[in-house]
Amino acid sequence: MTSKYQLVNSKFYYKDSDVSRNKFNIKDTQTIHEIEKELLEEAYAIFFNELNEDTRFNEEYFISLHKRTFESLYDWAGLYRDFNMAKGESRFCQGEFIKNSSQKIFAELANDNYLKDYATKPKSEFAKKLAYYKCELNALHPFYELNGRVTRMFIDMIAAYNGYQFIDYSHITSNEYIDAAIECVQFADSTMLEEIILQGLHQ
Ligand SMILES: Nc1ncnc2c1ncn2[C@@H]1O[C@H](COP(=O)(O)OP(=O)(O)O)[C@@H](O)[C@H]1O
Ligand SMILES: [Mg+2]
Repeated sequence: MTSKYQLVNSKFYYKDSDVSRNKFNIKDTQTIHEIEKELLEEAYAIFFNELNEDTRFNEEYFISLHKRTFESLYDWAGLYRDFNMAKGESRFCQGEFIKNSSQKIFAELANDNYLKDYATKPKSEFAKKLAYYKCELNALHPFYELNGRVTRMFIDMIAAYNGYQFIDYSHITSNEYIDAAIECVQFADSTMLEEIILQGLHQ
């Protein structure tokens, strides 16, 4: 980690804390996790209810999931990061390339008609596509925080649009989930995630 990264990143946290600076100045980890959980639950209901034929799972929609879910809590909701980030050995998309890389992913998704035609296609084909785009968004990791939750919500809304339930990840451990993310970020390989999604995709 470079000192620049630490310097920029430290602005997001309270001193000696793992809690991100927030609008209510809450510094207790447990409290902030509970608020985030509530906001996410509310958002799932809202975005699910808003799904309709005109919904486009485009970049604007993806960003709006982050912004609208968390803007009451965080100033940086809906904003792409402009610094580099890593988790463990995985380096995510460099800050300066996020906008371009994001546009490429969403151009490809538009070309796939935002995966809106999978209600009548084989489930395995749908799982493969969902895993591919989830992997791409994992590697992009465009926001400073909450990427995992917002990316899962994005994929869940596409699943719901096609008549499926939100994807069930309860059959795997958190270590298996992270291993699949590592395969995405370090090896651009979505096969592990494809298997996980296929098992958790139910009508
Ligand atoms: N070592 C890793 N390599 C690659 N990706 C990782 C690693 N650890 C975590 N991730 C990814 O980062 C996500 C967590 O990012 P984060 O922005 O903190 O989102 P959230 O707060 O919603 O969990 C995980 O869901 C996973 O996709
Ligand atoms: Mg996090």
